[in-house]
Amino acid sequence: MTVQEKSVTAAPRGPAELKFGEQSSQFPVRSGTIGPDVMDISKLYKDTGCFTYDPGFTSTANCASRITYIDGDEGVLLYRGYPIDQLAENSDFLATCYLLLHGELPTNEQFVAFRKTIVNHTMVHEQMTRFYTGFRRDAHPMAVMVGVVGALSAFYHDSTDISDPGQRMIAVHRMIAKMPTIAAMAYKYSIGQPFIYPRNDLDYASNFLQMCFAVPCEPYIVNPVLARALDRIFILHADHEQNASTSTVRLAGSSGANPFACVAAGIACLWGPAHGGANEAALNMLEEIGSVDRIPEFIAKAKDKSSGFRLMGFGHRVYKNYDPRAKVMQKTCHEVLDALGLHNDPLLKVAIELEKIALQDPYFVEKKLYPNIDFYSGITLRAMGFPTSMFTVLFAVARTIGWTAQWKEMIEDPEQRIGRPRQLYIGPARRDFPK
Ligand code: CMC
Repeated sequence: MTVQEKSVTAAPRGPAELKFGEQSSQFPVRSGTIGPDVMDISKLYKDTGCFTYDPGFTSTANCASRITYIDGDEGVLLYRGYPIDQLAENSDFLATCYLLLHGELPTNEQFVAFRKTIVNHTMVHEQMTRFYTGFRRDAHPMAVMVGVVGALSAFYHDSTDISDPGQRMIAVHRMIAKMPTIAAMAYKYSIGQPFIYPRNDLDYASNFLQMCFAVPCEPYIVNPVLARALDRIFILHADHEQNASTSTVRLAGSSGANPFACVAAGIACLWGPAHGGANEAALNMLEEIGSVDRIPEFIAKAKDKSSGFRLMGFGHRVYKNYDPRAKVMQKTCHEVLDALGLHNDPLLKVAIELEKIALQDPYFVEKKLYPNIDFYSGITLRAMGFPTSMFTVLFAVARTIGWTAQWKEMIEDPEQRIGRPRQLYIGPARRDFPK
């Protein structure tokens, strides 16, 4: 039996027993391929009349998934079993999309066919361009993304019947293909330049760079170091298990909502500074620190709870070890800055020193707060020419494959039910309306 085929099994050490007052209940324990076992408490309420209370879902598995595995203590991230650093080194983003979607790396023929399908969908309906002119020029591009991606559901009626596997697949292909076009259009609109059409002869990252930075009046030559770096950034961000935006997409999709609207919901969630907005926040913080001599002041502020300040780009809900994506990101950052002759970038100096000091400080060591992927991605993207407001947009472009692969897996899961958490009610008890 391969890893792909292995299904959830009963764990050898189950079942779990819960003693609650006089009553004792048993719950099956299930094992995955790797990782912690889960206690199946789906019958808990029926058996005991109690809910579990787990704000932030820190101890709750919401689904069984075959796509991505994280071991936060060991700093491991696997896509369909393959370590993230190996994929970043040896694969490219489109092949990674195929892997996440289909479960296996593509053969050469499969890759050629997949690429052909994707590039067939890179343009957006011409009428969509009018949507952009309805936004203020100074609108945040993530606001534009939420609106335009949601609007895809009004344009592509032939891919919104989620009960049809063919339509589901076209919806996924469309989103992988169109997201860079939509994102680049949001950027071009914000700076008042004409939209640049996709070029299907270019690879995914190069095409995105040209849609963002080319102008119609002169030729644009893609810098291969930047294209490779961007492709790697896309791979690093492609999926991350049941994170907040992916859970949002799954929850929205669990009601049977159409896939474009679900992904728009994911984009809205990603925008928050505790999630995808952190790379923008991390760069703003490095700019605010400005020079190495001001680092101790900011470290002290981060340790002072009353300041409400956190070191952005540090800490992670799951990684209690060095984020494996951050290691690749740090290397990529150096490559890009070297290629652009920016190795003396003052922000890079601040970042390196800040990382060094934080990794030795007992506050950060004891709380296991390590740099996350966002710590170096902001410096890299800024050097490439992206404004900070586009950082989370790039994250959304990359995460689209994760969202759609997980959405598709959920729809095809026989155990799938509408997501409907319960609560501990602490409001007023029943009372009569005053007469
Ligand atoms: N700076 C200073 N203290 C921190 C930080 C930080 N960046 N992160 C966590 N802490 C402290 C926090 O105050 C708490 O201390 P105590 O136990 O004394 O109350 C402890 O560490 C645990 O923090 P938490 O908020 O309970 O942890 P969490 O798992 O809920 O939060 C996090 C994870 C990523 C939201 C948080 O570490 C954070 O806000 N980091 C900064 C934002 C950031 O970089 N986010 C990007 C995450 S990676 C991208 C992605 O996958 O989306």
